[in-house]
Amino acid sequence: MSAHYTKAIRGSFFDITAPADSPQQIMRQTRYLDDGLLLIDGGRIISLRPWDEGKSALVDEQAVIDYRGKLILPGFIDTHIHYPQTEMIGAFGEQLLEWLQRYTFPVESQYGCPAHAARMSAFFLQQLLSNGTTTALVFGTVHPESVDALFSAAGRLGMRLIAGKVMMDRNAPDELLETPQDSYRQTRELIQRWHGKGRLGYALTPRFAPTSSPALLAAVQRLREEFPDVWLHTHLSENQQEVAWVNALYPERDGYLDVYHHYRLTGRRSVFAHCLHLEDREWDCLRRTRSSIAFCPTSNLFLGSGLFRLQRCWDKGVLMGIGTDIGAGTSFNILQTLGEAYKVGQLQQYSLAAAEAIYHATLGGARALDLDAQLGNFNAGKEADFVVIDPAVTPLQRLRYGNSQTIFERLFVLMTLGDDRNIAATWVNGECVWQPDNKQQEVA
Ligand code: GUN
Ligand code: ZN
Repeated sequence: MSAHYTKAIRGSFFDITAPADSPQQIMRQTRYLDDGLLLIDGGRIISLRPWDEGKSALVDEQAVIDYRGKLILPGFIDTHIHYPQTEMIGAFGEQLLEWLQRYTFPVESQYGCPAHAARMSAFFLQQLLSNGTTTALVFGTVHPESVDALFSAAGRLGMRLIAGKVMMDRNAPDELLETPQDSYRQTRELIQRWHGKGRLGYALTPRFAPTSSPALLAAVQRLREEFPDVWLHTHLSENQQEVAWVNALYPERDGYLDVYHHYRLTGRRSVFAHCLHLEDREWDCLRRTRSSIAFCPTSNLFLGSGLFRLQRCWDKGVLMGIGTDIGAGTSFNILQTLGEAYKVGQLQQYSLAAAEAIYHATLGGARALDLDAQLGNFNAGKEADFVVIDPAVTPLQRLRYGNSQTIFERLFVLMTLGDDRNIAATWVNGECVWQPDNKQQEVA
């Protein structure tokens, strides 16, 4: 029987078929088809089946897009990244608070220029796609122009992307500060312009508690009440000095998370980056409110912020995705980011298995963004975002691939040795939007 489809894709497929609440459950829900056939109709997945079963549905076997020898995964989801910081990755010598003052704020002050924002948005999105990342939750800068540029470019590519203008009214250079009233008004206009347009979504983005006055957080709360399906994206408990500063700025609150919780900024679609130094009651509050964490291993190591507690996150039942946190993070590549996550686990006697790692970067990330009905695996009805991986592209990778046995071992070797050289193609919304022969334009 032939199903209606617009594209048929053959290759090896790996995904996790349903959300999981433990690493053991992830293992039970993995799916690997060594020779599979994916049918898509426009931007949607119709079916994923073994080739031998599925091929009878084909109208024209010659028209199949043949990725045999490649491994196809759901598109990677980056749950925390700053696009304006692309141009400052690898800033030397500081930890969070000094790093922000010395490097970050000066770079971000350039994004009121629409031409600069447009140039860097295009560069940034090409970096995501060339690394197999199809969805991201993105910080702009305080300038509305920064997110106008990013949304315009992502919309043209058909990407499912969530972003927001930074909101901040204290403890940063004057040129990056705004009043709560202006922040409210500009954010509201951006939500109306971009939220729900095609696949784009808006995230309220107060930078973090230290750059937010109570009046600013009250403005964020008001917007959340007016637009209950927008996301909330901020930082939480990344650095010990930062935590002490928040306690000093908000002595009336019961710790860092309570600052956000007091303004009702916890909840479904709230994503808190880092969460390294949480108290027990803060974990419980995240769980109770169904808030999510973005775990950003390369950033946490680069800034010396601390070690994310993977075991605690499972034990407490808090939703979590992986973030690169460019430009405190050091790579756009999710395979490399997972390799660093593994090392963070090793330092705490936690062994992050490949299936679990891939879960965090795909369906788990989708769930953390409340997008698991749309993204994260190859189930029928999901959106057709995926990454085609060449599992062995260097002599070392070929040697190691040749002596690995199972799909799990191969995935683990990929997250140890892999990088953007392994990305053979990236598909968004049922279209191939990136292949290695795309020449990325240099930015002057
Ligand atoms: N906390 C507040 N702003 C930032 C930022 O830009 N990067 C990181 N890593 N942490 C932050
Ligand atoms: Zn960040």
